[in-house]
Amino acid sequence: MFQQPSWHALQVMIKLVMIPIPQYPLYSPTIAEFDLHQVGYYLDESTNWGLEISELERAYEEGKKLCNPKALVVINPGNPTGSVLSRENIENVIRFAHEKKLFLFADEVYQDNVYAEGSKFHSFKKVTMEMGAPYNQMELASFMSCSKGYMGECGLRGGYAEIVNLDPQVKALYLKSISAKLCPTTLGQAVMECVVNPPQEGEPSYEQFIEEKNKVLSSDNFLTFTFRSLINLRHLASFYMICFSFACYCTVSFYVSFFNMGNHGKGKPTNCAE
Ligand SMILES: Cc1ncc(COP(=O)(O)O)c(C=O)c1O
Repeated sequence: MFQQPSWHALQVMIKLVMIPIPQYPLYSPTIAEFDLHQVGYYLDESTNWGLEISELERAYEEGKKLCNPKALVVINPGNPTGSVLSRENIENVIRFAHEKKLFLFADEVYQDNVYAEGSKFHSFKKVTMEMGAPYNQMELASFMSCSKGYMGECGLRGGYAEIVNLDPQVKALYLKSISAKLCPTTLGQAVMECVVNPPQEGEPSYEQFIEEKNKVLSSDNFLTFTFRSLINLRHLASFYMICFSFACYCTVSFYVSFFNMGNHGKGKPTNCAE
């Protein structure tokens, strides 16, 4: 017999995911696609987009009024903010997630794009392991992609999720679900292999690899400059100038091609004899 769940049971059944605001905009649609509920925790612009534990608490309590918070997404280094969490901040986030029994999703795809002086990337997995029990037994997923950093810069697509301490029943279900998905292209897989297994010191291509990697990371091409502009808020004005110039360029290009199109078929082709 079908039973109507009580309001409380319904609250427990609705799963909630905490995500940062501002966020990488694919999180909201993904949460919606899986029929989950999102609650945003706000990053603090006045502290260079810092992540305050008090704000996590606020968002958690807010979410609890309606739903059952289950997961916490942290983007580090941040997109679009470019902020890089300190080790201490990461430890506090881990303690918070542990206390509230939240599954931690550490989106770490920008781990090579750390530019601000004194900043250093710390992986959530490494920190949980170094903190020891009970934190090293927490469920955690860490994401990495080859299309950021120095390898692909969005031209090559491949990535992985490292999932630790996953509940065995959930793992079985998860493996079943991903086995029905298609794999990335061979090129994407090959580049991913280079990201996770780069040339080591003493190997023939090591020097060249380091030289090329450093060159890309320190170069001022459009993408890296744009990203750095976001990270370094002093350059925000330059970033807006780039966006404005790009928008002007697109508008002009559009009108030029539009009027050229309009001329097709009208008048005589220039190579036509009079
Ligand atoms: C924060 C963040 N996470 C994940 C992704 C997805 O990366 P990819 O498209 O390389 O898989 C992006 C892409 O821009 C991103 O900005």
